[in-house]
Amino acid sequence: MSASLRVIEEIAALRQQVRAWRGGGQRIAFVPTMGNLHDGHLTLVRAARADGVRLVVSIFVNPLQFGPREDLATYPRTPEEDRERLAAAGVDVLFTPSAAAIYPRGLAEQTRVEVPGLSGILCGASRPGHFTGVATVVCKLFNIVQPDLAYFGEKDFQQLLVIGRMVEDLGLPIEIVGVPTVREPDGLAMSSRNGYLTPSERSLAPALYHALERAGAALRAGEAAAEVERSGRAGLEAAGLRPDYFAVRRAGDLGRPEPADRDLVVLAAVFLGTTRLIDNLRVRRGGSRDRLD
Ligand code: PAF
Repeated sequence: MSASLRVIEEIAALRQQVRAWRGGGQRIAFVPTMGNLHDGHLTLVRAARADGVRLVVSIFVNPLQFGPREDLATYPRTPEEDRERLAAAGVDVLFTPSAAAIYPRGLAEQTRVEVPGLSGILCGASRPGHFTGVATVVCKLFNIVQPDLAYFGEKDFQQLLVIGRMVEDLGLPIEIVGVPTVREPDGLAMSSRNGYLTPSERSLAPALYHALERAGAALRAGEAAAEVERSGRAGLEAAGLRPDYFAVRRAGDLGRPEPADRDLVVLAAVFLGTTRLIDNLRVRRGGSRDRLD
């Protein structure tokens, strides 16, 4: 492991390091994660590193964003491998706070950050409280790290919009940077939850991205959003996936698109056995093809 990665667990020590950097006139970039790092995370790290700043990555499996029947206990934790990958990637500080440091009064007593509207639809409808948990922990981490820039994957497109809205609404002086989804060679978006898939589920999983690609082509060909959603769901079912939702939305605010709206996103969540996977595809309708995934 490179000697230059400093691992910090305590909030006070992290604040002290940030103050020292700021005193030296340095800017700070931040990549919050829940660990079990894959190439998607490392792409966020590379994007942040390219901006020539001091780079903080956090690993914190945030209990507040998991529902009571979700996978908090079994969420993959690979601390040694994560540390090695971050050291090799040239990260300055790995921040690994404990749950007691982040939520000293416990979850029930924690002040929350709620982003109304955006948090209640799509993944938010299926996972009540999830985006409040995300917004709360990200706001808290932002207050601790005080970054100039923060990087999030476009794979979690709704999360990216929720955080962007929170930053805008609360007037936080942080630039939010979305980084394109990294895919396996067969199109499956990289995700820590891919590791839950059995070999036969893994062989079916790329059907999610293929359904999004078909939807994108249909929208660009002028098909109505409602019809694209209907055939998207049918295609997923035919491929052996259980759709949670398959939705065509405006990319800016996830509202239902009017026929004149051009900047769209197709978002989907599916169950494969007990594993829930999400993915999305940006689509520019009515003009030249503009793939932003
Ligand atoms: O995307 C994630 O890994 C998490 O939702 C985040 C942003 C680190 C907050 O816990």
